[in-house]
Amino acid sequence: MKPKHTKKFPSEAEERVRRLRAQIHHHDYLYYIRDAPEISDEEYDRLFRELHELEEQYPALLSQDSPTQRVGVAPLDSFPTIEHMAPMLSLDSDVKVEALGRFDERVRKALGAGEITYVTEPKLDGASVELVYEEGLLVRASTRGDGRFGEGITANIRTIPSIPLRLRDEERPVPLFSAFRAEVVMRIGAFEQLNERLLESGRSPFANPRNAAAGSLRQLDPGVTAERPLDAYVFEILAVSSPPAATQWDALRAMRGWGLRVNELERRVTSVEEILRYHAELEAQRDELDYEIDGIVIKLDNLTARERMGATSHHPRWAYAHKFPPRKEETRILRIVPSVGRTGVVTPIAFMRPVEIGGVTVSRANLHNREEVARKDIREGDRVRIQRAGDVIPQVLERIDEPGRKRTDPFVMPVHCPSCGTPLVERGPYTVCPNVFGCLAQLAGRVWHFGSRQALDIEGLGGETSRALVQEGLVRSLPDLFELQAEQVLGLEGFAEKSAEKLVAAISAASQTELARFIYGLGIPEVGASVARTLSLHFGSFEALRDASEEALQAAEGIGPKMSEQILAFFREPRNGEQLERLLSHVQLKAPRPSTRSAAEGEESLEGLRFVLTGRLAGMSRSEAKERLESLGGRLTSSVSKSTDFVVVGDSPGAKLDKARDLGIEVLDEKAFVELLREKRA
Ligand code: IVH
Repeated sequence: MKPKHTKKFPSEAEERVRRLRAQIHHHDYLYYIRDAPEISDEEYDRLFRELHELEEQYPALLSQDSPTQRVGVAPLDSFPTIEHMAPMLSLDSDVKVEALGRFDERVRKALGAGEITYVTEPKLDGASVELVYEEGLLVRASTRGDGRFGEGITANIRTIPSIPLRLRDEERPVPLFSAFRAEVVMRIGAFEQLNERLLESGRSPFANPRNAAAGSLRQLDPGVTAERPLDAYVFEILAVSSPPAATQWDALRAMRGWGLRVNELERRVTSVEEILRYHAELEAQRDELDYEIDGIVIKLDNLTARERMGATSHHPRWAYAHKFPPRKEETRILRIVPSVGRTGVVTPIAFMRPVEIGGVTVSRANLHNREEVARKDIREGDRVRIQRAGDVIPQVLERIDEPGRKRTDPFVMPVHCPSCGTPLVERGPYTVCPNVFGCLAQLAGRVWHFGSRQALDIEGLGGETSRALVQEGLVRSLPDLFELQAEQVLGLEGFAEKSAEKLVAAISAASQTELARFIYGLGIPEVGASVARTLSLHFGSFEALRDASEEALQAAEGIGPKMSEQILAFFREPRNGEQLERLLSHVQLKAPRPSTRSAAEGEESLEGLRFVLTGRLAGMSRSEAKERLESLGGRLTSSVSKSTDFVVVGDSPGAKLDKARDLGIEVLDEKAFVELLREKRA
């Protein structure tokens, strides 16, 4: 008998799920590929949540390409071996200009007379992968491996947000089958943050973003990969059922049209001179890019001509990499000096014989913590290899063995704080000065943090003033701030009678504050503004938080063992106890109020808010934007930092947008920006 047809979900739900997926795919495309989001993170989250809830309610509606299914499979025991759709060859490469000339000659000789067009692209320094799509659906992904066989890392690749699970067919039809070559990279900011996280949890950091990308892709648990901030650029069609283009230039366009992320620095050139100019331009830009490149790739544009040239067993004859000189150097460690940072962490700093790397003279490097120094076995007097990544701050890669040379004793961390003499404590691999409010090395930073916008928001208490207050001995511990007299402040550089009074008044006004701001202002490790808000809502009073047990702390949403440990350690430190009592005698804490409002919502004006503009706005010039912002009390600044409140994104935004995302700063598109201006004007 034919089974009775039972509908597992109402058709409205099916239709809604379909629409939600299309919307989310579209917004992913705008955000990750076009860098031009049209909706806020909150709106996006709402769509995502609704889809997730519908799929939970009607599991029969689940599908592989649903945006909710990026992470979702169990860890593997090992990676399957996958044969590539076409060999993934490597590139012939050199740093010498003559070698580039010889490549060009070979090409011209093989193809005969006529103009030769090349496409030049940045040579991305990441991990090479193959992505295979069937009927537009991502079905398989693998590492390069030996070029013929790679490791199947499909589940891991699916976690990378800029790799579409389904190709877009809005602009051009999607081929029945297609395989692409892409480079998975980790952006430099993300790489530095990841290394910090690894160091904090006592693990070894990655030597460079390439290793971090490759290591993250080779995790058996896709859940781990999902937490690593990876990105991917696609640059070659490896195989396709119906070729969309006759040239690389058009192939790149086609790939963009399918929603794949293609690098934006490609160029079409016709001579060695132009190639060299491109090489020089990219080398000059190298430090500004937020991903690593190690040269340029030159490829024949005409795909038929490529076939005529063919390949050796290792590399194609139609492509060539003109590399940059390496940014590694050797030097000698002169001294290793412990330095106390703003948060009390004592960091060993290596002072080295100055050496130039890529146009920048470097003479010091952060050695992170005692475990790193021990692991690399670095001592004063040692010869070391150092490297500079995107940033100016170099890294000690390794010690160079010098047989027969007598070495000095291993570095040991001091037992007492080099700044205030307090006995240091060990926290994981870190050595920390627990004298949070009394240690002068920490104090200026703590004062500044305490007065920052998300904390007590004390107008006029910026970094410089905080430093001056501490240096001049007016503030010797955080509570001293509330005992400041205008006459004392007057003695500081840059202060007159009025401004001194204003600062003292601002401090006094800020003493009535919200509990969440106060908690955040204390600068407890791991406790950022949002955790502070959670704690404030959960505990309701400062005393309840201060006296909370480990279990009580972990009962608050999102507070794990690492955070609760830091919070407990902070309150257990007797010195902090005394200072907290003094602080509490000066402040009045207002009961928590649940709110997740955006930084500007509900405010009368844009007073004190800092904006950064990237890209071109269609409806107003930069100077007009600046004028309108300033008329409402806001400021337009040029670079994105932690104190930026909003990044306004126009057409063709630059790296500032990425920086904003890295720092979690609210991004406004032109429409939202104009609305904000209008709303405040009213
Ligand atoms: S084309 C056969 N283009 O560089 C030619 N490769 O050994 C295929 N790479 O790991 C490569 N950026 O994955 C090409 N724009 C680019 C590239 C690029 C980086 C990688 C490639 C390989 C290495 C060369």
